[in-house]
Amino acid sequence: MFLGPEPCVIITAMAILEIRKYPDEVLKKKALPVEKVTDKIRTLIDDMIETMHAAPGVGLAAPQVGVSKKIIVIDISSKEEQYPLIALINPEIIDTDGLVSSDEGCLSLPKYTTVVKRAERVVVKGIDREGREVVIEADGLLARALQHEMDHLDGLLLIDRISSIKREFFKKRYQKALANAAKE
Ligand code: NI
Repeated sequence: MFLGPEPCVIITAMAILEIRKYPDEVLKKKALPVEKVTDKIRTLIDDMIETMHAAPGVGLAAPQVGVSKKIIVIDISSKEEQYPLIALINPEIIDTDGLVSSDEGCLSLPKYTTVVKRAERVVVKGIDREGREVVIEADGLLARALQHEMDHLDGLLLIDRISSIKREFFKKRYQKALANAAKE
């Protein structure tokens, strides 16, 4: 039997947020560290997770939903099911090893993929949604996703990681696609 006070049920509906696309200015800004993990930050994390799943994507950084704060979420369980959902605040790379090239895409650059060279293994330190310090050692897809999402916090997109020739080619093609979409 339940003898305590009436349980208080707070229903907060999660929300799917608008994903900002290149060349939105917020994507170029350096994100600010989170000073304190509040309920507002936790709600933002929940909304980011829902937005990432709905897209669908395997990772999302707060600037991609217009919030210039150091928060990332990653869920690669659809590809490698042993990995849990990760939500990381103020992440920092503390060690890297090796280099590997692989194909990448980004929710802020729809329909574009390109090969990006990144560290093969990383050790990342950050804070979880309860405010506890966590250290993640990752390789493979998780290492790549962590580096990709953390780049967003530095105002970098994957097109900033490729050669200038490839970048110019991308810009021309992207502008053309935008112009065509506007005509439809
Ligand atoms: Ni991205």
